[in-house]
Amino acid sequence: MSQAHYARIAALYDAFVNTDFDIEFFTSQAHEQGDEILELMAGTGRLTIPIVRAGFRVTALDFSAEMLQILQHKLEAQGLSAELHQADIRSFSLGKQYKQIWIPFHAFPELISEADQTKALERIHAHLLDEGVFICTLHNPIVREKSVDGQMRLVVNRELASGNKLLVWLLQTRHSETNIVEVHEFFEEYNAHGVMISKQYSPLQFHLLSKPAFERLFTQAGFEVLKIYGNYDHSAFDEEQSQFLLWVLKKHPGKPDN
Ligand SMILES: C[S@@+](CC[C@H](N)C(=O)[O-])C[C@H]1O[C@@H](n2cnc3c(N)ncnc32)[C@H](O)[C@@H]1O
Repeated sequence: MSQAHYARIAALYDAFVNTDFDIEFFTSQAHEQGDEILELMAGTGRLTIPIVRAGFRVTALDFSAEMLQILQHKLEAQGLSAELHQADIRSFSLGKQYKQIWIPFHAFPELISEADQTKALERIHAHLLDEGVFICTLHNPIVREKSVDGQMRLVVNRELASGNKLLVWLLQTRHSETNIVEVHEFFEEYNAHGVMISKQYSPLQFHLLSKPAFERLFTQAGFEVLKIYGNYDHSAFDEEQSQFLLWVLKKHPGKPDN
């Protein structure tokens, strides 16, 4: 499970992942679909903060207390507020339905078994209003698997607020039978003299979820496709070229909540 991974790396996450390529996409979705957003696997609020800042009411859910604590501190420091829940997306129950449910940053396949993916989709179905939309962002597995090549890569080389330097190395391998990718992450911190202060290793797994497999799962869970994009600029999905598979799903009429 990735819970231990995020407990280990929470303090480094914002230095590791400080991209904003999806903020405009989600801001325009928020404007289009309206208020009351449930953001799942929200982490330290990379997306939550700009969406709250844009004036929307966001409920952010994550199973990592360490990641949510950072989000809470960031909200307080900026005079913002959001409802935070520490819960697992396979079993959450908030007693409420939402107009929009999002899983940003291609995180859904961190649930690696079909049973877990199904449980999460059923919970999402139960929390979505009949007229609501569920946005699930995935990598396009055909393009994503090209970087799963067993090579060690330097993916971050960044100065921290302390003046120290953070290097992050990744090595990814795939089990061909299960399509599970093992991600080996190495975090190194160096001081101004180039002396290593700390080194941390943390493994993570994700499922290289194929398009037909996800289609089958969300159909069984009671969803159907409203829109599908190949990137955050709303471009059409191209199986061979698109980096992402951005699903905008709605409830299939007639399928009761679980
Ligand atoms: C790649 S991070 C993405 C964080 C944030 N959405 C972002 O865009 O930076 C994935 C997040 O999913 C959370 N997560 C993984 N499995 C989960 C589960 N089963 N239930 C709830 N949260 C989970 C992790 O704790 C982590 O914060």
